[in-house]
Amino acid sequence: MTSEVTEKKPRRRFLLTLGGVAIAWLGAAMYPVLRFLSPQPAPDPFGEDGRALVQKITAADVRKPGMGKNGAYGGRGLLVYRDQTGALRALSSKCTHAGCNVEFQGDKIFCHCHGGTYDLEGKNIAGPPPRPLTKLTVVEEDGQLFVLRPEGKASRES
Ligand code: FES
Repeated sequence: MTSEVTEKKPRRRFLLTLGGVAIAWLGAAMYPVLRFLSPQPAPDPFGEDGRALVQKITAADVRKPGMGKNGAYGGRGLLVYRDQTGALRALSSKCTHAGCNVEFQGDKIFCHCHGGTYDLEGKNIAGPPPRPLTKLTVVEEDGQLFVLRPEGKASRES
């Protein structure tokens, strides 16, 4: 009886060690996979000077009141238009309902996904969008448009 007990101890120790090694190996193998699959923070679209270049829209595209166009900055969608006073206006083109890209249509902003409609101030006026579009500040310099970092946003949190 005592010899049976003493023979099982090395076997048990071996199995525990093997289990520990297997768990350590599994953890080491899964860590890079889980790290790859976990969501990464969006890169900051603004440069050191707090500006991001607007792509697909030039100052010529919005030179007259009422003209507007969809474009992008730093991988994010926006629309830029010139209002009736001649001021440049910009809004995020991400619909506040389910995130589809809204479209500038001259007298309104429309979302084709579920028929959401916004006025030119970005206010949700029809359909399912629960909130207004996010306002952005855009400036023109040498024929190019730039979005300015929102006030109070640190360089990594936008
Ligand atoms: S995503 Fe725009 S209305 Fe639904």
